[in-house]
Amino acid sequence: MKKTLVLKVDSDRPDISKIRIAASSLRKGGLVAFPTETVYGLGADALNSEAVLALFEAKKRPLDNPPIVHVGDMKDVYFLAAQVPAKAKVLMERFWPGPLTLVLKRSKIVPEATVAGLDTVALRMPEHKVALALFKECRCPVAAPSANLSGKPSPTTAQHVIDDLDGRIDIILDGGSSRVGVESTVLDLVADPPEVLRPGGTPLEALRQVLGSVKLHPFVAADMELSLKDARSPGMKHKHYAPKASVIVVEGSIPNIVKKIEELAKLHEAEDERVGVLATDETVKTYRVGVVKSVGSRFNLPAVAQNLFGLLREFDIQKVDVIIAEGVSTEGLGLAVMNRLRKASGYNIVRVP
Ligand code: TXA
Ligand code: MG
Repeated sequence: MKKTLVLKVDSDRPDISKIRIAASSLRKGGLVAFPTETVYGLGADALNSEAVLALFEAKKRPLDNPPIVHVGDMKDVYFLAAQVPAKAKVLMERFWPGPLTLVLKRSKIVPEATVAGLDTVALRMPEHKVALALFKECRCPVAAPSANLSGKPSPTTAQHVIDDLDGRIDIILDGGSSRVGVESTVLDLVADPPEVLRPGGTPLEALRQVLGSVKLHPFVAADMELSLKDARSPGMKHKHYAPKASVIVVEGSIPNIVKKIEELAKLHEAEDERVGVLATDETVKTYRVGVVKSVGSRFNLPAVAQNLFGLLREFDIQKVDVIIAEGVSTEGLGLAVMNRLRKASGYNIVRVP
């Protein structure tokens, strides 16, 4: 067990002395969790294979699933990627810093461990002062998957990171809650047309506005489980975002969703199970069964995205056996929300008219 140091930092004006402590740890091969606008990341020097392997170990992450490499300066992309296509330049100008990750052909500088043996690398510049200050001070690209134990919902507060990784990593920079709440959109620019491998904080609609044609990988569009041989992003193969409780997603019209959830909740309670209902502001007061929480208004999908992972963790703390979640629209950030919920449910989706 390590002693994990937690340092509180102001997310608007990060204290440089604390940032330097964290940067120096990264440079020595240490593991530092830091806030981003999407979720907390667990960082290691991306060019140090040993540090990256320690990162996999701390998260208990399968070695075939590479982390995103974070940069603080767009120039870094040119030495981490073997080619930077025109589309990448346009997207970086438009969306960086921000919740968009670009998959490009990698350069030889990036160690095998960092890309899990792939010939591509996933790159992103987050929009968070603490993260950017950290990258500037450490002067290295930072490999950073989400700072959760593999398979758990991603952390949106420092407390979530402590709950999963205390004693397993060196430092946690606590910069408050993440604004976006779901991870970045992963866009494969090696594919033509570009393909979304993971929906996230940058909406598909915004990418299409800039690029015209953008495909959704079938795994992402899917509302059912597909054969693993079709996985393009290693992350697609692994169970994700799953709380300890089992999850059921109910999709359809609002009155029918409520009716179906009441019905399912009663069935599970009759089996002596503790039921959690993931409701929305519009419906939260109508439920008469289970531990009911609202994820936000279904007409404010950014709020739903922001609250989702924290609530899944809260249900676990309250020892709920089954979470029954309302489906929301797949427009905008809703696509990322529904992708996470459907994956968490293992595609246990109930459809109502
Ligand atoms: O918002 C985010 O993206 C957060 C914050 C910390 O930046 N990071 C994050 O990283 O979610 P992670 O490692 O948990 O998820 C990275 C995803 C995984 O699904 C992985 O399979 C995929 O990106 N990925 C990484 N490198 C890839 C590559 N070369 N080709 C295809 N997919 C890749
Ligand atoms: Mg992750």
